[in-house]
Amino acid sequence: MKPGQTQRTPWIVGVSGASGTPYAAAVVRALLEAGEGVDLIVSRASRLTLLDETGISFRDAHWDEDLREWLSRGADGKPDTFDIQVQDVRHWSPVDLAAGPSSGSYPSKGMLIVPASTACVAGVALGLSKDLLQRAASVTLKEGRKLVVTVRETPLNGQTLRHLVTLDDAGATVLPASPAFYAGATHIQDLVDFVAGRVLDAAGVEHTLYRRWEGELGGGSRPT
Ligand SMILES: Cc1cc2nc3c(=O)[nH]c(=O)nc-3n(C[C@H](O)[C@H](O)[C@H](O)COP(=O)(O)O)c2cc1C
Repeated sequence: MKPGQTQRTPWIVGVSGASGTPYAAAVVRALLEAGEGVDLIVSRASRLTLLDETGISFRDAHWDEDLREWLSRGADGKPDTFDIQVQDVRHWSPVDLAAGPSSGSYPSKGMLIVPASTACVAGVALGLSKDLLQRAASVTLKEGRKLVVTVRETPLNGQTLRHLVTLDDAGATVLPASPAFYAGATHIQDLVDFVAGRVLDAAGVEHTLYRRWEGELGGGSRPT
């Protein structure tokens, strides 16, 4: 870094192969809207879920084009729902173990894994570092930075539950992709934004993704 330059300190967003690619899109959009830098790692398996859930093939060589298309989609699949710029996104291939986020000396505010597969949960709990996403998560923990693990699976077996306890013990925030209905959801996007908003709450990033509870019963009921 040259004198006078300010250091870019992004959030690392890891997208693993659980269902829920709209959660990842909502988190990345909200981080960018909040003026945060994003370092993005899209696992090999998550490209299958992305293809299945959106029809988008995510290609390392065309990541900016593919990301723009992904982020512009609503949770209902409608294209061009969101107007989004991806300038402050840096993309890393999941097989690039020499990438910045594989080292603790690479600056980051922390890492948000959204969604997190049970395979990813296991890999991070055991410190496997089988790809860049898992390595970056291990680095985040060892550096004492914020790690949010948005696990998506149901039901959960004992093995995954034990791995989640290990992650909690290691200082991670375990945040199940579990939408709530008290915030007055009327569309799929509202349910997605609730989970994404809770991820940003855990990271301490300001957002307006969902309506917060204000102590009044009945606020979540739909107008008749
Ligand atoms: C369409 C589809 C949906 C999937 N949904 C889930 C899921 O919700 N949760 C999960 O733990 N795994 C799910 N998987 C399985 C993971 O993709 C698989 O375990 C993979 O090895 C995860 O690898 P990763 O953690 O490196 O991304 C799904 C796979 C496919 C193809």
